[in-house]
Amino acid sequence: MSQGTIRAVADVESEEASRPPAHRRYFVYHEGEYVRYADVGLGLMTHAFSYGTACFEGVRAYWSPGTQQLNLFQARPHFERLARSAKILRMKLPHGPDEMVQIACEVLRRNGFRENSFIRPTLYKSAEEIGVRLTGVRDSFAVYALPFGDYVPVDHGLRCMVSSWRRISDESIPARAKISGSYINSALAKSEALDNGFDEAIVLTSNGHVSEGSAENLFIIRDGIVATPPVTDDILEGVTRAALIRIFREELGMTVTERSIDRTELYTCDELLLCGTAAQVSGVVEVDHRIIADGVVGPTTARLQSAYLAIVAGETPKYSDWLTPVYGSTDV
Ligand SMILES: Cc1ncc(COP(=O)(O)O)c(C=O)c1O
Repeated sequence: MSQGTIRAVADVESEEASRPPAHRRYFVYHEGEYVRYADVGLGLMTHAFSYGTACFEGVRAYWSPGTQQLNLFQARPHFERLARSAKILRMKLPHGPDEMVQIACEVLRRNGFRENSFIRPTLYKSAEEIGVRLTGVRDSFAVYALPFGDYVPVDHGLRCMVSSWRRISDESIPARAKISGSYINSALAKSEALDNGFDEAIVLTSNGHVSEGSAENLFIIRDGIVATPPVTDDILEGVTRAALIRIFREELGMTVTERSIDRTELYTCDELLLCGTAAQVSGVVEVDHRIIADGVVGPTTARLQSAYLAIVAGETPKYSDWLTPVYGSTDV
């Protein structure tokens, strides 16, 4: 390589390093306007930054190469949950669920994303002031989006540990609301799992029942029956969980029970899986060094995964109402 070529490579590298990350150029929705991410300019004193006083959602959009369409998956249930989280926090959303779905579509269109993407709507306490409370502090609403792939490995099974951290309870921070501050609980559990060489954490309720993963709901399969913790065991009432209950029943013809699950059932079940918007359908092959399903993703989990991926790809007409197309026939 000549001296000139070496200099050219170094120049390109330093140019790349000094360029702002791509997401700073994306369009977002903020305070009623579509603006560039970098132009939002949140202040250091923002209430939500100090106190975690915000609620949010994570929604996926899947690119379907067959139809050349980007589809939001289960968008309305996510915005309905955001409205419930807001109610718990005594916050006010400026838009109804249908309007928020349209805003999410517009953010994706303005960015021209034609690949799998993740959308993050957030309702947050935006006043720049000191004083921890929920009332009398201004709320703001924002939506941003970015291209997004897998959150956890989906091709091989996850190795999990039961966390030493317990799930926040409804009498301290309600887990059924997706509250920013409560994700410290998830972050502690996930970090402990990673520090100990595992992929993910499973968290117990304060009275010792299985609640959920750090950012996923959980299902076990025992003797052909599917079980998942009830909504009263301090879970986030997952959109994917509700979708999978229906797929288990209607596509796999299985019985699903919502009941409390003991820790040792994790060790002895036939199959175990975690699910969520980010994690999708992820089989678990090990918990606390006990091997599940011979150490490979079980056959029912594999069938569920295929059914789910076909639905999100728009290949199952029966579930087309779970998808919201982003691009109209005139958007090319
Ligand atoms: C704590 C927690 N549980 C469960 C889930 C799964 O919920 P959903 O399927 O609605 O994404 C999530 C993901 O947001 C989560 O953060």
